[in-house]
Amino acid sequence: MVAEPTTPPDGPRALGSDEWPLLDHLVSTVFRPEMFHDYPQLFNASNRANLRVIREGGQLVTHVGFTIRPAVLLGPVITVACIGAVATAPEARGRGLGSVCVQDAFDHASASGVDLMMISGGRGLYTRVGCREVGADHRFTLEAGNAASRRAVTRPGLTLVPLTAHDIPALGAIHEREAVRFVRPRDDWERAFDCGIVMNTPSDFWGVSDGSGTVAYVVVHRPDRVRNRKDGDVLFVRVVEHAGSRDAVAHALSALIDQYGAGRAEVHVGGHDADLGRVLRHAGLQGVPEPSSGTIRVIDFPGLMGKVRPLIAGRIGHDLASRLVFEADERAGNARGGFTIGDGSRTIRLADHGALGPWLFGDPGDTHPEPDGDRSLAAELASALPLPALWYGVNYV
Ligand SMILES: CC(C)(COP(=O)(O)OP(=O)(O)OC[C@H]1O[C@@H](n2cnc3c(N)ncnc32)[C@H](O)[C@@H]1OP(=O)(O)O)[C@@H](O)C(=O)NCCC(=O)NCCS
Repeated sequence: MVAEPTTPPDGPRALGSDEWPLLDHLVSTVFRPEMFHDYPQLFNASNRANLRVIREGGQLVTHVGFTIRPAVLLGPVITVACIGAVATAPEARGRGLGSVCVQDAFDHASASGVDLMMISGGRGLYTRVGCREVGADHRFTLEAGNAASRRAVTRPGLTLVPLTAHDIPALGAIHEREAVRFVRPRDDWERAFDCGIVMNTPSDFWGVSDGSGTVAYVVVHRPDRVRNRKDGDVLFVRVVEHAGSRDAVAHALSALIDQYGAGRAEVHVGGHDADLGRVLRHAGLQGVPEPSSGTIRVIDFPGLMGKVRPLIAGRIGHDLASRLVFEADERAGNARGGFTIGDGSRTIRLADHGALGPWLFGDPGDTHPEPDGDRSLAAELASALPLPALWYGVNYV
């Protein structure tokens, strides 16, 4: 039995400038007291309009926060919102407040020109409204006892170097050369070093040096601080962001096992990251299919596809790519409706958001169903896809 509120809900709306203590109380109660410290990209004054809340009487009962950043997808730049710290006060749950606030976040992001939403979760609250896991990616694991693979990835002359905030310019220079990435303001690096939390866990930053300079970096969860780790569990190194030379990243996996005395090291390799996949496979490792982190939903389908049209033209040719018309049944941000793609004479249909996300961005093992409609157009578009799935790393909220 859910208690009825005594005052009507006020919101969803942006957090008021005087409501920070109320928000701190809500997210501290639902998650942990360090939330403001651990999520500085979300909880800062310049992001207040993107902290969507519902108030009842003297307290905030629901919060859905998001950040907005540009992201590069193999050339084209899109605008991405990342949702996190979704919370309803225990006594107010089950009344639909979370669902209303999530939709408000999509509407507000849409009004801010966002193309794609990433959500750091996959529960019914999100999947019911079309959010899906995406990414034809892999997880690779290097076991400490796998001497042959460890020898194969080890490059003499490379060494691990601990990084600090002083290294942000070098890190930024390596990161900005990645083909698939968030376009990260320096502030986000500073916040990450300041709070030391990446992808919800205390993390260390390591550079890989060839003696003359840093050629790659990896960010790893601190093996002794991995969440839900029980005493006696074997330590493992989880790489949550990497950039730069793929030989050096692979080398780091083995070096980090020694560094932490860990039993294994894991890295998530995006479907587009052919170089790291190749280095690891040559070393005898096999990737396990894995989606990117969390779930996604497209916000503005015609807008997104307009931005990635040059990438599609690179894959299937200018003539067909320039003829393609991308239509959504509903306005941007809406959870409902299907999607039509036509080239003037042929059309295909994706029934809903649940079908659209995996079709566009791939899924592990490529198991998503074919779109309905013209078979030849579907086949031609299949060779233009998937688009690369983004990985959060430092941008996780
Ligand atoms: C998750 C959370 C924010 C949901 O808030 P809420 O205000 O109770 O959300 P709603 O009332 O809209 O939905 C709650 C539940 O009602 C049910 N429900 C709501 N709408 C429904 C619908 N249309 N059909 C069927 N079931 C529905 C579902 O069981 C839903 O839970 P689910 O997400 O596990 O499927 C809240 O439970 C919470 O704060 N949990 C702890 C923190 C957390 O886990 N946050 C999410 C991190 S990813």
